[in-house]
Amino acid sequence: MVAKGYPKKILITGGAGYISNQLIEELPPAVEIICIDNFYVDSEYKRKNKKLHSNHRVSLIDSNVAHISKYQHLLSNIDLLIYMASLNSVGESQTHPIKYLKENNLNLQLFLNQLKKFSPKLKKIILTSSRGVYGEGPYLCQKCRRTIYPDSAEALSCSKCNSTELTPQKIKESDQTKPASYYGLTKKIQEDLLSVFSLQYNIQMDIFRIFNVYGKDQGKYYSNIGIIPQMFKLIKTQHQICLSGNGKLTRDFVSITDLVNILKMSVVNSQVRTNLIETYNVGSGRAVSLNDLAEYFQNLGYSFNIILISSYQDVQYSVANNQKVKKAFNIKKFSNLYDFLARTYGKNC
Ligand SMILES: NC(=O)c1ccc[n+]([C@@H]2O[C@H](COP(=O)([O-])OP(=O)(O)OC[C@H]3O[C@@H](n4cnc5c(N)ncnc54)[C@H](O)[C@@H]3O)[C@@H](O)[C@H]2O)c1
Repeated sequence: MVAKGYPKKILITGGAGYISNQLIEELPPAVEIICIDNFYVDSEYKRKNKKLHSNHRVSLIDSNVAHISKYQHLLSNIDLLIYMASLNSVGESQTHPIKYLKENNLNLQLFLNQLKKFSPKLKKIILTSSRGVYGEGPYLCQKCRRTIYPDSAEALSCSKCNSTELTPQKIKESDQTKPASYYGLTKKIQEDLLSVFSLQYNIQMDIFRIFNVYGKDQGKYYSNIGIIPQMFKLIKTQHQICLSGNGKLTRDFVSITDLVNILKMSVVNSQVRTNLIETYNVGSGRAVSLNDLAEYFQNLGYSFNIILISSYQDVQYSVANNQKVKKAFNIKKFSNLYDFLARTYGKNC
C-alpha cells in the first residue's frame, strides 16, 4: 500500500540524474516510478548505478523525452510528473545554444504534445527550474534608491542615474527574470511551456528555482557542473584553481538533503498553496564567494595555487530570498555548507 498522501505512480524525466536519484531514495517503496533518461549527460557511475537498476519499483527507460511512443505503454495512471530532463551547463549553452533550445525546450514540447493522451489522470507537475532564469538579479542603487536589473556583471552602473554605487540584493520570486545565459533562457522557456500546459488542463504545478546544489556523490554524476566537486578535483589533480571575478563571484549553495526534503513535501502536496502554479526559490539564503570556498579548502589543509581572473564569465551575485519556500514548507533552517565540506573533504575523512 502507498503511504498516505503519496501518489501511486510518478514519472520522472531526467530520472537517471543526480537530484532524481537522491529523491528516489527518499520515496516510499510502494510508489511506482518511471524514469526516462537518454543519458545525454553521461557518466560511468550513472550507467552502473545499482541502486536505481536493481530497484524493483523503478523502471528506467533509455530514451529522449521526445520519443514518447517508445515508452507510452508505461504512462497510464501517472499521477505526478517531475520534469528534470535538462542539459545544465551554463558554459556549454553559450557555445551550443541550438542544442540547448532543442533538448531543453523543443523536446519538452514534443513530449507535452502527447502526454495528456497517454496520462489522462495527471494531477500535478513539479519542475526543477534554476536561478539562471534571473540573470544578474536585482541591485539597489545607493544614490537614487531604485532597484535595477543590470545586463551583466561586467559594467555595473545604474541605468537611471549612472551611479556605480550598487548593492546586490537577495533575489525574490517576484524579481524580473532576465536570463544571462542560454541555459537560463531554456529554463525560463521550460517554465513557460509547462505553465501553458498546466493552465490548459488545470493541473497544479510547483516550479522550483534551484540555486547551486551541493551534496554527497554529486561529482559521480557529471564533470562539467557542480562548483564544489569541480573545484576539489582541480585542487587534487592540478594543485591549482582559476577563480573568475577575482574570486568574488558569490553563490548560494543549497544542500541536496534540503532540496530533496522540499521536493518530497511537494510530492505529497503538503504545503499551503493559493495558486494553481506556484514558484519557489530554493536556496539557503547565504552568500558564499569562490574565495571563501578556496580559503576553506586551504584551512582544511590542502595547498594549491589560486589564479584570479578578472572577467566574470557568469553572474556576479546569486543569493536567494527564501522566505516564500520557508513559509510554505515550514522550513526552520537550511543546512550549513561548511559542515558538509568538513565532513566530506576534511583530511581525516
Ligand atoms: N544541480 C544543480 O545545481 C541544479 C541547479 C538548478 C537547477 N537544476 C535542475 O535540476 C534538474 C536535475 O539536475 P541534476 O543536477 O540532477 O542534473 P543531471 O544532469 O544529473 O540530470 C539531468 C538528466 O536529464 C537527462 N536528460 C537531458 N536531456 C534529456 C532529454 N531530452 N531526454 C531525456 N533525458 C534527458 C540527462 O541525461 C541527465 O541524466 C535539471 O532540470 C536542472 O536544470 C539543477
